[in-house]
Amino acid sequence: MSTLLNKLSPSATDLIRMDHSQVLDTFHQFRSGLSAAKKEALVNATCVSLEIHAQLEEETFYPALRELANDIAVLEKSFPEHAEMRRLITRLRAMTAVDPDYDTTYFELVRDVLHHVADEETTLLPAAERLMPERLGELGAQMARRRAQLMTSRAGEIMSSTMRSFPESAAVMAAGAVGAGSYLMHQAADWVKGVGRRH
Ligand SMILES: [Fe+2]
Ligand SMILES: [Fe+2]
Repeated sequence: MSTLLNKLSPSATDLIRMDHSQVLDTFHQFRSGLSAAKKEALVNATCVSLEIHAQLEEETFYPALRELANDIAVLEKSFPEHAEMRRLITRLRAMTAVDPDYDTTYFELVRDVLHHVADEETTLLPAAERLMPERLGELGAQMARRRAQLMTSRAGEIMSSTMRSFPESAAVMAAGAVGAGSYLMHQAADWVKGVGRRH
């Protein structure tokens, strides 16, 4: 079963790239002129995705890479950068969208994440592909399983922000076509089960 999962899951580096693309897509949907409810839903979706992604990297990907390369500066600064990201997430959660600092705090988070993602994609992911190509499948399967667990534990939160951010998905969910209840959960289920149900 674990061999099958290894084959069906994306490699660790592909999974990380997919997460990055998904979060960048959420960034692009945010506009200052949106309604407060839509902004808060998008911000919440962004924050949950980032938190889960950072946890997966910290629990699995970074330690595996560090075993092989403890001198990669970008890897060492990833931890404080995740900490700064979490600080901004905490600030955003303590505000509402009508707060005068809401948009600027969100854009600060976007700027930091873009910088962090660029470092990972230009340095860490290529290093992992060079140093441990044979481990990427197993690590990807581990991360996909862990993601499914983390998403299940936050399912209510994810469903609520998905329905407010992407109302078209609410209709799909109501029709019962997406059992788990969100694009994110749907994607995770595809990765784990290898079912071609992605949108
Ligand atoms: Fe990261
Ligand atoms: Fe990342």
